[in-house]
Parts: sequence; C-alpha cells; structure tokens
Amino acid sequence: MTVLVLGAGYIGAALIASHLQSGDRVVAMDNGFATDWDAIGRLMDGNCATLVRGDIREAGSIASVISHAWPVRVVYLLAAQASANPDAATPEYTEETNLRGPRLVLEAVRDAARAAGSPPPPVVYGSSFHLYGPGLHGDVDETCPVGAQADLSHLSKVYAERLGEMHANRDGMTVVPVRLGIVYGVGPVTKRDLRFVTVPHAFALRRLGGLPVTINPSGVRPLAFCHLEDAVAALRLAPVGLAPGTFAPANAATEVLTVPEVLYRVDASAREFGIAVPDAGSREPRTSVVRFRIRSRLAAAGWLPRHDVAGSMPEILRHYAGQPVRTPRSDEADDLRRDT
Ligand SMILES: NC(=O)c1ccc[n+]([C@@H]2O[C@H](COP(=O)([O-])OP(=O)(O)OC[C@H]3O[C@@H](n4cnc5c(N)ncnc54)[C@H](O)[C@@H]3O)[C@@H](O)[C@H]2O)c1
Repeated sequence: MTVLVLGAGYIGAALIASHLQSGDRVVAMDNGFATDWDAIGRLMDGNCATLVRGDIREAGSIASVISHAWPVRVVYLLAAQASANPDAATPEYTEETNLRGPRLVLEAVRDAARAAGSPPPPVVYGSSFHLYGPGLHGDVDETCPVGAQADLSHLSKVYAERLGEMHANRDGMTVVPVRLGIVYGVGPVTKRDLRFVTVPHAFALRRLGGLPVTINPSGVRPLAFCHLEDAVAALRLAPVGLAPGTFAPANAATEVLTVPEVLYRVDASAREFGIAVPDAGSREPRTSVVRFRIRSRLAAAGWLPRHDVAGSMPEILRHYAGQPVRTPRSDEADDLRRDT
C-alpha cells in the first residue's frame, strides 16, 4: 500500500522523508509553484518513491496520480498556496488551488475507492491553528469555534475543513484536518525566500543578512508554533485508528509565543554565532497579553512533541549561514512573513 503525498513542499518533503525512513512506498505530486523541483527530486532519488509533476486544480492530474499510486493507505493533502503574503500569488491562484483543489482531491479519492470497491483511504489535510482566529484564551482544543481570518490562504482552511466534513458525513470518507501551528525547523526542503518562510526563519535570515527587523503592532498577540518534526509526527498519527466516515480535526501546536518573544530567541542564538544584534533585541520582552493553552486530541494518542523555538534556532541559523539571502524590496515590511 502506498502513501500519497499531494504537495511536496516544506512540510510535505519532511513527511515524505519520514515515510521513506519507515520503509513505505511513497508517490508524491507537486506543480513546482513554491518549491524548487531539484530539491524535491533529490529527496526522492534512490528511494522507493515516485515524484509526479501535476496540479490539484486539474481533475485529470489527480485521477492519474491516484491510479498510479493505488492501492493507497493514506492521502496527505499538503498542496496549497500557503502564503499570506500578497506578493506570493494572485487571489485567483489561491482560490483555485485552496478551494477547488481540495474539492477535486476529495472527489477523486472517493471515486477511486468506489471504482475499486474498497473503503476510501483517510485524507489528512494540512489545516492551520490560525483557524481559531485572534483573541484566544483558556484551553484551545479542537472544539474551539472558528475565528476571524485575515487573508485568503487561511480563510480557505475554513472552507476546506467544512468540505471534508461534508464528505465524511455524506460519503463515508475519513477526513482529518491537522491544525498546524506556525511551523519552523530545518527539513529536506527549507526555504529562504522571505515570501514563503515563517517568522523564526525570516528573523534568522534577516539577522544573518544584516537586514532590518521590524515588528508590526499586531505582532504582540500570542501565536501557536510547532517544530517541523513534531508536525510530521502529528500528521502521521492523526488518522490512526479512526473509523470510516470520521471527521476528526487535530491540533498540532506546541508553544505559544508573541513575535517579540520569537525575535528574542533568534537574537540570543544569533549572538552565540557572533552576529551583531541591535540592543533592543537583547532584552527579554515583557508582554502582558492574555495567553491561551493548546490542547490536542493527539496527546492521548501518544503524540510527544520534542522541540521548542529557543532550542531550534542554532540549527536554523547554522543551516542558513553562508547561504545568500534574497534581499526584499525596500517597501517590504516584516509582515511579508506568511504566518503572522
Ligand atoms: N508551514 C507552516 O507554518 C504551516 C502552518 C499551518 C498550516 N500549513 C499548511 O500546511 C500545508 C503545507 O504547507 P507548507 O509549509 O509545506 O507549504 P509549501 O508552500 O512549502 O508547500 C505547498 C506545496 O504545494 C505546491 N503547490 C502549490 N499549488 C499547487 C497546485 N495547484 N497543485 C499542486 N501543487 C501545488 C507548492 O509547489 C508547494 O510545494 C499548506 O496547506 C499550509 O497552508 C503550513
């Protein structure tokens, strides 16, 4: 049985590597929109893996990769226009990929299973903790209501999750949205284009490149984070043991920080690398914002997150050190980062 990964980007590539390490056969599809094709290719080379160039906006591409991969044990839907940065993609591209794409994928998985006379494999969807919106407090588990959204990419998670729920109720599919916090950490495909990296990576790149670091006023609200390795573990665990026809969202976030607190951790690590960091970053930020606590149904299933932002910064800085940084235009502010 094959593991089918739609979207071999930052998280998809790490998930592929993890499944290959477990000895699984992997078929992956990506259209190369936001990921260097050679980097994905290197990951697949010499392994029990096939990489197909295809687009989740096209029913034919999806049907073809499913029939190539069949029988499939699990489908991961991680192909998306994942950036909130308006320069990353047109609104049309984001809508077509993030709204139409999940519909076509769910329909294709359902139809392939019907044609084969077998139950549909679970579809694990790369959703976001941002779904809950701002102003969180107390315990945030998977029953927390959806909140306000600030960009099309994150807004599309609301639709795709409801779509998955509809297919679970109506077609007996198992659909598992994994609500990922802001993911950080080094993986097989670690980006450095500031339009496509998350805040810990953006700060590391800016400090290494001697570029200005600014924090916009919305940066003081607490955000949820998750290391790449912990995210992969959550994606793999989330569909285990679920009955057919289940819609089962799962939180995958481990740490609550404000953006100034992230910068403080980046700077503490950068100093150890001998990088000149302005004084403002040397003080532990004291913010009196209301915090929330992350709860996940995966804890009871044995999910044991192992990482935090502070402990991961040396590895991230080491990874980027020596690599050229894409210099942003002068009018690009720190809100380039897609997940803050
Ligand atoms: N990275 C994070 O911090 C984070 C946090 C929460 C949720 N997520 C979600 O997890 C998923 C994966 O995120 P990621 O960080 O790996 O993003 P990514 O951009 O690295 O990966 C997405 C992949 O999808 C591909 N793609 C884009 N449009 C496509 C299309 N039409 N057809 C086929 N492939 C297409 C891209 O080329 C890219 O390789 C996304 O849905 C994202 O919204 C990510």
